[in-house]
Amino acid sequence: MRTLSETFDAIVGDFEYPMFIVTTAAGGERLGCLVGFATQASIDPPRFLVCLSHNNRTYRHGRDSGWLAVHAVLAEAEALAELFGGHTEDDVDKFGRCAWHDGPHGMPVLDECGNWFVGRVLDRLDAGDHDAFLLEPVAAEAEPQADFTFHRAKRIDPGHEA
Ligand SMILES: Cc1cc2nc3c(=O)[nH]c(=O)nc-3n(C[C@H](O)[C@H](O)[C@H](O)COP(=O)(O)O)c2cc1C
Repeated sequence: MRTLSETFDAIVGDFEYPMFIVTTAAGGERLGCLVGFATQASIDPPRFLVCLSHNNRTYRHGRDSGWLAVHAVLAEAEALAELFGGHTEDDVDKFGRCAWHDGPHGMPVLDECGNWFVGRVLDRLDAGDHDAFLLEPVAAEAEPQADFTFHRAKRIDPGHEA
């Protein structure tokens, strides 16, 4: 018989959801990683929740930045997902390997992603091995696109284990 934890893992491992690349800037550093734990959390006012692993450099160096840029990953942007999910900024200059520009509040915006918003961090909650960041969108751009989703992203070997 399965344990509770095995059953829970089976349920959540089967979910399908869009993948995001979350970037930020802090202490003169640009940071960013692939994120699956993210969801809209309120309609009015608009709010979004992003979870960052305590192990990731994006969290360790960027948690107090006050702003996060959330990019929906295009279905065809697998290489970008691999760059941000399969490598850590501890070892690799990710922003030297992709096109980006300075966006609102100094957040690095990835040129390959047409759908992105910058969120102001309203609150941060210790959620276990991740922290949950509650965001208020303050700037956004949108283009119709198909998204890169979890079942394709699962084969990427994460730069840091959660
Ligand atoms: C399918 C998949 C989902 C992931 N989801 C998250 C997530 O929700 N939050 C997170 O902080 N890291 C997540 N990661 C892991 C980071 O993207 C990865 O460890 C990255 O290399 C960390 O980079 P950094 O150390 O430069 O921040 C995920 C990775 C993969 C492959």
